[in-house]
Amino acid sequence: MILLWIAHLLVVISAVTDEQYASMPKLFEVDDYDTCMMLGKKSFYCSVSYRVVPLNAENPTEIWKIIKEVSSSELHYQHDLLRRLICIPQTCPNVQVYNESDPIFLKELTNCLDEDYKKMELHGTVEEVHCKSSNPIYEIDTIDLITAAVFIFYMVFVLAVSFYDMIRRNKTYEDYTKFKQSNCGKLVTTFSIPSNWNKLTSTPTGPDFEKLRGVQGIRVYMTIVVIGVHTAVALVASPILNPRYTENMNDFPDFASEFPRRGVYILTFHFMMSTWMLINSMLAKVDRNEEVDFKFVMKSLLKRYVRFTPTVALIVGFFATWFRHIPAGPFWLAVCEETERCRKNWWLNMFFVQNHIDRYNMCHIVSWFLAVEMQYYIIASLLLMILLKNRHRILPVIGFLIVLNMFFTFLDHRRHGYPSTLSSKPEEVFRVLFNKRPQWHDHFASYHASAAGSILGLGFGYVYYETRDKTIFTKKIHVILWWILSLGFLGLVSFFPSFYNVDQTPTHSAIWVALTRPLYAAGMGLLVLGMAHGQGGYLRRMLEWGPLNGLAKLSYCVYIGHTVFQNIRVGMMRTPEFVNQYTFVTHMLSDVAIAFPAAVWLTLFFEMPSNELANMMFKVKKNVEKKKN
Ligand SMILES: *[C@@H]1O[C@H](CO)[C@@H](O)[C@H](O)[C@H]1NC(C)=O
Repeated sequence: MILLWIAHLLVVISAVTDEQYASMPKLFEVDDYDTCMMLGKKSFYCSVSYRVVPLNAENPTEIWKIIKEVSSSELHYQHDLLRRLICIPQTCPNVQVYNESDPIFLKELTNCLDEDYKKMELHGTVEEVHCKSSNPIYEIDTIDLITAAVFIFYMVFVLAVSFYDMIRRNKTYEDYTKFKQSNCGKLVTTFSIPSNWNKLTSTPTGPDFEKLRGVQGIRVYMTIVVIGVHTAVALVASPILNPRYTENMNDFPDFASEFPRRGVYILTFHFMMSTWMLINSMLAKVDRNEEVDFKFVMKSLLKRYVRFTPTVALIVGFFATWFRHIPAGPFWLAVCEETERCRKNWWLNMFFVQNHIDRYNMCHIVSWFLAVEMQYYIIASLLLMILLKNRHRILPVIGFLIVLNMFFTFLDHRRHGYPSTLSSKPEEVFRVLFNKRPQWHDHFASYHASAAGSILGLGFGYVYYETRDKTIFTKKIHVILWWILSLGFLGLVSFFPSFYNVDQTPTHSAIWVALTRPLYAAGMGLLVLGMAHGQGGYLRRMLEWGPLNGLAKLSYCVYIGHTVFQNIRVGMMRTPEFVNQYTFVTHMLSDVAIAFPAAVWLTLFFEMPSNELANMMFKVKKNVEKKKN
């Protein structure tokens, strides 16, 4: 990171000098929020978007020319749109009416701001204003109270059950074993923290686990990358002290700064492993001569639903209720927006359809991933139910589907003329508008966007299952080919755009988008398949490192929980942030350091109990695959 940073210092050349840049009005100016709130009845704090134009349009000043020059690129901020966060009684004492929807207030506020920019020969209009007094924006309402009551009741219940479990544990071993098998005991161990802790820290055994152990490592590393991407987005989506940094980053993108907009394909891996595991357990079931019928599929879907929903409900419930009561600072608007989206649309998340219904107002934006995964799981289960009767058709059908997927991805992107990357226009990121754009959904969050991973997961899962007791690497050349292909595909997907402009024309972009996910999934699939057959050397050892195994069990909760802290951080901010690689790395590390312990809590109190509950409710026979010999 630091090397990249130094490289940046060397490369930055721009038409506008630093001195000229500094002469522009400040993009973000934030008055002291807490002092303002101390003014009691007089406190009035406003978040204002103020658009400036030159006083003398015929003969614009030097400053205006610079503003125009810098703002001409969409990759820069609009420097004529100033974000002022104003403590009205202190900064604009002439304002008399404290009412944001009153025209007199608007007039007085505009006068006050015009006065400020007169020396730069600018004046302007207030485009947007939101104010608050020292009173909280939201009263605590019934829904908040009910949520809190349910939450506290549940916490107390879990603690009580855990305590009871501990007492029973201290008795004789026979007594406890008998207790565990009784109905009451089953219920107790489902919710008990000590029992779930034991399960969490135990290492699964069995040939399949050993073979696919590397997957756990990849999962953990990838979760950290995802947190990093969201840290970066959160930094750019809040007011910053050095906007030029972001602009230079956009003007001279390097691999690291491109990654958040290009790296959307990495989640394909999770979709792939999800269907990979699905087809494995289904094949094993068929081999045990068990029926894979509609009833079974419905049962396993319900089981999955019971398993995942309570944890999501907690996060969404928090965003819809108590999140809005955190002592947010000058950037409270971001908090309000999320809270209102969640109040309105929380139930869509409960049905895992938030990425298709009212998608521009999605609550808990990162949860698109869960929705997509659920949708793939349903489609893949139903597909397999039909396909498993004719096993020899599995691979041709998968081949057909992946070709179809690439073809339609190409058509879709070509039709819209999308570029191959997501938008990094600072104005869009700052206003969190990116998910209000169709591209973000078509490229990313709708079920068709990442389907390649799911489809290839079925293929690799099938090949893995059929070859798991065979030796497929019989010659040296196989190993060499494996390294070249798997790392080759991954390298190609990651680095090709650095050497070749994949966005020359919309057709180029569409081809590249249609290729990235299949290539990436193929690379990852080969990698996992080869590691399952003992290849991989140091790479495998790195991925199979002991602690990763335990951490991987947290990845679901880390994924859905980490944005809670990032959102709270934005709410708590009092001044714009100074951004560079160093602040990015420290923020990211702190996000990771909070996310994992928090995920332990979330896992123990919510995910594991719901998992156990699902197992109890739907006794789908456990798929313990036995070696045929
Ligand atoms: C604020 O101004 C609007 C528009 O003039 C008016 O309808 C509203 O009643 C005012 N609110 C208060 C609290 O005075």
